[in-house]
Amino acid sequence: MANCDLSAFFKIGYGLYVITTNDGKRDNGMICNTVVQVTIEPLRIAVTINKGNYTHDVVRETGRMNVNVLAESAPFAVFQNFGFRSGRDADKFEDVAFSRSENGLAVLEKDCNAVFSLTVEQYIDLGSHGMFICAVTEARTLSDAASMTYAYYHASVKPKPETKPKAKGWICPICGYIYEGEDLPPDFICPICKHPASEFQPI
Ligand SMILES: Cc1cc2nc3c(=O)[nH]c(=O)nc-3n(C[C@H](O)[C@H](O)[C@H](O)COP(=O)(O)O)c2cc1C
Repeated sequence: MANCDLSAFFKIGYGLYVITTNDGKRDNGMICNTVVQVTIEPLRIAVTINKGNYTHDVVRETGRMNVNVLAESAPFAVFQNFGFRSGRDADKFEDVAFSRSENGLAVLEKDCNAVFSLTVEQYIDLGSHGMFICAVTEARTLSDAASMTYAYYHASVKPKPETKPKAKGWICPICGYIYEGEDLPPDFICPICKHPASEFQPI
């Protein structure tokens, strides 16, 4: 690989979106960050989707999708529903309230601030992903709420893994003796006052 510091890629800013589709039987949605307006005259938006995702196959087949722009108010449950499982195995709209745009596809009014209806003009095969260059057939503002960015998602929406602070040592609360080390053996006895490990406190 060229001289690439992979952490530099985390500095690229993105928004977060739910791409809604319909395969003729049911509605589906997928979380996506690779959405960008590419031309103004005519209005065009590019969306890049992993070929393994059901949404990729449905858009290839139907040539249509909606881009729902997530607002900062969207809870983690929205990401779990639309981003961590596939429409091949789950009905992601089972418990979700939605309306429809002129093209008949789902619009997520509650957690989004805008929606774009797209018709595919070109498909670019990128190997692992497909890039859809699309004409905009409808665009609607839903609210004035701030758009969710990938940085906001990481800082304020995605739950942090629970990390217990490691103890640098353990103190006997009776005599003040300090045991140095993260792990106090359960059968340890204070060498000064003979109190057991269960009474020691982490420091
Ligand atoms: C924060 C986040 C960003 C994502 N961005 C993309 C993306 O840009 N392109 C993509 O193909 N998948 C992306 N995904 C993964 C899809 O949302 C995920 O694979 C989804 O389960 C696909 O659903 P489907 O099989 O019903 O289409 C993202 C997931 C998360 C949680």
